Amino acid sequence: MIQGAKLYEGKAKILYATDDPSLVIQYFKDDATAFNAQKRGTIMDKGVCNNRISSALFVYLESRGVPTHFVKQLDDRSMLVKRLEIVPLEVTIRNIVAGGMAKLLGLEEGIVLERAVFEWHYKSDALGDPLINDDHVLAMGWASAEELSIIRAASVKVNEALKAFFLQRQIDLVDFKLEFGRFQRSILLGDEISPDTMRLWEQGTRRKLDKDRFRRDLGSVEEAYQEVLRRVLGDAKQATAASR
Ligand code: TYD
Repeated sequence: MIQGAKLYEGKAKILYATDDPSLVIQYFKDDATAFNAQKRGTIMDKGVCNNRISSALFVYLESRGVPTHFVKQLDDRSMLVKRLEIVPLEVTIRNIVAGGMAKLLGLEEGIVLERAVFEWHYKSDALGDPLINDDHVLAMGWASAEELSIIRAASVKVNEALKAFFLQRQIDLVDFKLEFGRFQRSILLGDEISPDTMRLWEQGTRRKLDKDRFRRDLGSVEEAYQEVLRRVLGDAKQATAASR
C-alpha cells in the first residue's frame, strides 16, 4: 500500500490517501488535546498505544458482528481503513456517570446507571459538540431515520461487547464515544476506540486508565495507556474464545 497525500490532519490523527481511492491510512500522533483544544500536550507513545488498542478492538468488534472501517494494522502508528463519508454525529454511551453527564445534571461521578444512557452530539468543534436529539438530526438532514436506527443498534452492540471485553480485564467501561460513516451503501463504525475516546476505570480501585489523567493532570498518563494496551493484548484470544 503506497502512502499518498495528506488528506486531513486532526488533533490526534492524520489521514493519508492511498493508491486505492476507497482506502485511506489513519496515522496516530502523540498529540493530546482536551477541553475543546484549549489544553494541549503530548503523551509519549500514545499514538502507538491507540493504534494497537483500536486495531485489536476493531478486530474484536468485527468478530461480534459490528461492521467497521478497519482493514488492517500497517505498522506501529498506522492502520488501513475504508474511506468513509463521516456522519456528523458523535454517539456517546454511558454506563457510569462521569464527565459531561455529571456536569450537565449536577451529579457525582461514579453513580452506576440502571441502564445505559445513549446520547447524540452534533460534531462541531466551534459549538463544542452540543447534545442533540433525533429530531435535530432529522430536521437538519444530518442522517436518515434508517441510518439513526442502524447507528443506535450498532452502538448498543458495541457497548455490550466492550463491557464484557473489559470486564474480563478487570476494567469498568464508564463511557465512550463512537463515530460512524457511509461506505458503499452501508454504515460502518469509524474513527478510533482508545483511552482517548473511552473512560476506563480499574475495577475495585477505580484508578483512571484513560485521557482523564491528562485532562485533570493526574500524572502517570503514559503508564495508563501502556496498561490498557497490555490488558487489551494480554489475553485477547482467550477473551474472544470465552465470549463465543
Ligand atoms: P463526555 O463526558 O461527554 O465529555 P468530556 O470528555 O468533555 O467530559 O465524554 C464522554 C466520552 O466520550 C468520554 O469517554 C470521552 C469521549 N469523548 C471524545 O472522545 N471526544 C469528544 O469530543 C467528547 C466530547 C467526548
